[in-house]
Amino acid sequence: MKIAIFGLGYVGIVSAACLARDGHEITGVDPQEAKVELVRQGRSPIVEKHVDGLLAEALADGRLRATGSPAEAVAATDLAFVCVGTPSRRNGSLDTSAVERVCEEIGAAVAAGGRPYTVVIRSTILPGTMRNVVIPALMRAGGDRVAGLLKIANNPEFLRESTAVFDYDNPPKTVVGSDDPGTAAAVLGLYAGLPGPKIAARLEVAEMVKYADNVWHATKVAFANEIGNIAKAVGVDSWEVMDIFCQDTKLNISPYYMRPGFAFGGSCLPKDVRALTFKGRDLDLDLPLMNALIPTNARQVDRALEIIGAKGLRNVAFLGISFKSETDDLRESPQVALVERLIGKGYSLRIYDKNVHLARLMGANRAYIEGVIPHIADILSDDLGAVLDHGALVIIGNPAPEFRTLAAKLRPDHRVVDLVRIPGLAEALGARYDGINW
Ligand SMILES: NC(=O)c1ccc[n+]([C@@H]2O[C@H](COP(=O)([O-])OP(=O)(O)OC[C@H]3O[C@@H](n4cnc5c(N)ncnc54)[C@H](O)[C@@H]3O)[C@@H](O)[C@H]2O)c1
Repeated sequence: MKIAIFGLGYVGIVSAACLARDGHEITGVDPQEAKVELVRQGRSPIVEKHVDGLLAEALADGRLRATGSPAEAVAATDLAFVCVGTPSRRNGSLDTSAVERVCEEIGAAVAAGGRPYTVVIRSTILPGTMRNVVIPALMRAGGDRVAGLLKIANNPEFLRESTAVFDYDNPPKTVVGSDDPGTAAAVLGLYAGLPGPKIAARLEVAEMVKYADNVWHATKVAFANEIGNIAKAVGVDSWEVMDIFCQDTKLNISPYYMRPGFAFGGSCLPKDVRALTFKGRDLDLDLPLMNALIPTNARQVDRALEIIGAKGLRNVAFLGISFKSETDDLRESPQVALVERLIGKGYSLRIYDKNVHLARLMGANRAYIEGVIPHIADILSDDLGAVLDHGALVIIGNPAPEFRTLAAKLRPDHRVVDLVRIPGLAEALGARYDGINW
């Protein structure tokens, strides 16, 4: 394909070098004359392994040009990759002005040329930027006339500097966001020879994925460093600890614990976070990430309360009160904390939880239920129908299997707040359904 690359920085030049190597004809565009001149000589404007060689080969084969003129680049190509910088402003907000300017230039050139053209944004942009900044900027010059010519996609870049060419060839995944499935498929096709999953998504999902990735990577570094700081202070080799940690691909390096939802709880996580952060204080260590875990978790209970409060319904059917389904353990259950807050605010509650009810009857957890939370024991039932009869507002606290068929048991006036994302329920209930963070 004939491809224009806007922005000859790290992302742009690596894409240019690799796409040219793979047989595409590349026109690089950058307002910095020095960068354009280097690329015209087949030399890299950045220090990055293999890029110089690939650019020199591409130049020799006639597959690489560079220009300062956006109009010239659009006229010579069918697709543009936008790889310009999106730096932080002083207040931390994202400066998308370079992306906006490039899109205005491309839109004007497409309007003048009158040919179909594909625009792929590779710069990192926040969710909503494609719809609110990029698309309006592309349309600004030509309005409806360019709208019919343009195909638009977001294709976040996952390369790491210093291993950028290797990363281009071995992406962890390739994600293309577009409103048009045909455009997403065509852009994914440019990477047909590369390994890893190829994923078409909504525009905003593609934009958000990139931030989830990078904030997660930052979280991993900060976490490993705090573990390391504690380990050193107690005379333990942090690298040995993290090496063993990383060998656990079931719970640690895995999708487990990675689904948005309600707060963590149970007999171990809160207790052990508290113990380790207390130990950190004892050792005079500053551990802001770990110290944030318990408050962040408590905030998720506040959030559930806010969502519930906004429904304006006072009679509540609370389904599932143990911190996990298929258990009767109520120790540090955030569902119990939520129920207690609701009772305190004067809501009228009935609670359904088959396992907890059974535990009470069998005596297993009876001492805890009747000693520590007698006010909850009194409103606990194993009759789902009766509990649903009581409440116009249904709160789902854990994913017990019997909740999968809940939609069929609800009255038309029931409203649902789901803390766990019961499969199919959102689709079945439409506007009567609300999830805690979906
Ligand atoms: N560097 C990375 O490892 C990396 C990885 C993934 C994603 N990203 C994202 O990719 C984007 C680019 O990052 P980068 O590190 O390559 O930036 P960079 O600063 O190295 O390069 C940006 C280039 O865009 C050029 N530019 C500015 N305005 C322009 C215009 N109107 N027309 C054409 N070119 C213009 C600049 O002159 C510069 O050469 C950013 O959004 C960044 O967050 C970077």
